[in-house]
Amino acid sequence: MRLVYSLIFIVALALIFTSSIKKYSKNFYTIALIIGSGTIIYEIYRLVTDIKLQGFIGEFEKASMKGNFSIAFFLIVMFAGALNPKWKITKKLLSIRAESAILGSIFILPHAIMYLVRFIVKLLNHKPITTLYVIYLIVGLIAFIIMIPLFVTSLKKFRAKMKFADWKKIQRWAYPFYLLVYVHIVLAIFNDKEIDILKLSIYTVLFGGYFILKLIKNSKSTRAIKNI
Ligand code: HEM
Repeated sequence: MRLVYSLIFIVALALIFTSSIKKYSKNFYTIALIIGSGTIIYEIYRLVTDIKLQGFIGEFEKASMKGNFSIAFFLIVMFAGALNPKWKITKKLLSIRAESAILGSIFILPHAIMYLVRFIVKLLNHKPITTLYVIYLIVGLIAFIIMIPLFVTSLKKFRAKMKFADWKKIQRWAYPFYLLVYVHIVLAIFNDKEIDILKLSIYTVLFGGYFILKLIKNSKSTRAIKNI
């Protein structure tokens, strides 16, 4: 359910505060950085003391650590590019697409850093590691590396200095990024002792729906170009 609450929370935040996110984007990046740093500090503390946060704050921290906030922002970026651009909601999401990509990238930092640290700690302590675990970690790392140029070129400062064609070429890497993220998540779910069917279905409907909508949109625009 944490995934559902996180998705609702982030999408509602994006729709209610669209103009504030656009106008005061740096303030939102700072808040995301504070939450991300807090998550990293707490996770390091937890590695040493094994003390667990409880209640709302515990769930909030987990949503940050497990990449739920991040994935919600990336889903906004994805659907902004896949839904009908004439719709009011699409226009709203499109107006904060770059900001959402930046927030998604900031929010994934504690997830990527701390799971990498946990992996190294496991290796050093000779803890059992499954092949599937190593595979989905590598897939996640590749996705993270692809995300870096996507993140940098979403920043206004860098975007303004680039030719549109070069910028577009880099942004095409978003598709393999989304695909790798989906594979990473599915493999992580399959690596659990018990497969969470609800979680698997939610991610599959969202990513599958996105890819279908995108294919329909692309085939429509190819047909329109051919008819000119
Ligand atoms: C931009 C790249 C990445 C994205 C968007 C991403 C996103 C996600 C998401 C959404 C989940 C499912 C969490 C859930 O709903 O329970 C997940 C699971 C996981 N990811 Fe990533 N991830 C990325 C990169 C990485 C990297 C670089 C690592 C570590 C090196 C990593 C390690 C893990 C682990 C260990 C899990 C399983 C968590 C658990 O079930 O406790 N991820 N990832």
